[in-house]
Amino acid sequence: MLKDGLKRINILQGSVRSGKTWISLILWALWITQMPKNANYLMCAKTLDSLKRNCLDILSKIAGEKYFSYSLSKKEAVLMGRKIYLEGASDARAEEKIRGMTLSGVYCDEITLFPQEFFSMLLSRMSADGAKLIGTTNPDSPEHWLKKKYIDRKDELDIYCEKFLIDDNCFLSVDFVENLKKEYTGIFYERFICGEWINAEGLVYPNFSEEKHVIKGKIEEKGDFYISVDYGTLNPCSMGLWQIDREKMQATRLREFYYDGRQEQRQMTDEEYYQQLEILAGNLPIRQVIIDPSAASFIACIKRKGRFAVKKADNKVLDGIRLVFSLLAQERLLFHESCKGCLREFRSYVWDEDAQSDAVLKVNDHAMDDVRYFCNTILRRQFR
Ligand SMILES: Nc1ncnc2c1ncn2[C@@H]1O[C@H](COP(=O)(O)OP(=O)(O)OP(=O)(O)O)[C@@H](O)[C@H]1O
Ligand SMILES: [Mg+2]
Repeated sequence: MLKDGLKRINILQGSVRSGKTWISLILWALWITQMPKNANYLMCAKTLDSLKRNCLDILSKIAGEKYFSYSLSKKEAVLMGRKIYLEGASDARAEEKIRGMTLSGVYCDEITLFPQEFFSMLLSRMSADGAKLIGTTNPDSPEHWLKKKYIDRKDELDIYCEKFLIDDNCFLSVDFVENLKKEYTGIFYERFICGEWINAEGLVYPNFSEEKHVIKGKIEEKGDFYISVDYGTLNPCSMGLWQIDREKMQATRLREFYYDGRQEQRQMTDEEYYQQLEILAGNLPIRQVIIDPSAASFIACIKRKGRFAVKKADNKVLDGIRLVFSLLAQERLLFHESCKGCLREFRSYVWDEDAQSDAVLKVNDHAMDDVRYFCNTILRRQFR
């Protein structure tokens, strides 16, 4: 019955933590038992790591070790006696491998994060009789390819699409749900809590407020210190000095250096920037300098001097923005009034409304980048 009940493409979409992954994995396990053993099956997520984290470990719990086992190094799993290939959608070699296959069943985690070509190629390989795809996703922009080319055409394309909401998940505690809801506002609330496909428009951080996030007057310097750097020669260069208070789980940008070579009509050399880094650090024990991974010459310069430990920043833009947004919402990120470049950019940092999927306008984004580097590289782990 289940076999007939499923369509060719089955998408469970909606808010975070709403149970999409659990239910889809139960569906996948039940469905696969009705399918032949000698057919080709595939499970994929953006990367193999995220597949493990989001799906394989849960499937082990749901199915039990007797019915499900996997090896990431072999990129294979066995579910109910059926061999399943495991792949990461962002791996170019995966595409080559799958291009030659005939697939009977495909499981996809977080489809909006896949390259569109990978997804359409999967569908083109699903030529076996009764082949099905089961997948989950959070909503994205209404312009996203998954929404426009597939979900919006569901009647025409043999697609089943069900929306899940966090309030429907009775396995979560009321407190957990309430706290999670507080972490999101604006478009993120609409998407990740209400499950709406909504455009990212206007300010990237509409929740930034002078009242809540800006500190005036003297700040006592104590805690762990870091400096984050977005390097530019022609474009502005922005460096922020941060202090982390672990007890309060708050990070404060104490001071900054912000220099616009174009506006000043003079570019600074790496040596000059290094002098500014020293001035910003003063006598404070700086744990690490988090820096734009593409700033090779400046990274080499800092290393040569030997005073600071350098860490290349995690530069995943959208993940970083979500984190900064959520830290602002929780008032874990504060800024001293002297950080003028950063405060100005908060008021002018906007989404690119003409882009096909979420993207920010790449102007007025230098301090925004260094803030994001710091949050994504350091605070993501420390404030977990
Ligand atoms: N059927 C279930 N039995 C037991 N626990 C469940 C069940 N469904 C959901 N849960 C609980 O709810 C949590 C969230 O579910 P799930 O991971 O499926 O959400 P999701 O919609 O995929 O979220 P995200 O969008 O964040 O990936 C799970 O970690 C689990 O604790
Ligand atoms: Mg999920």
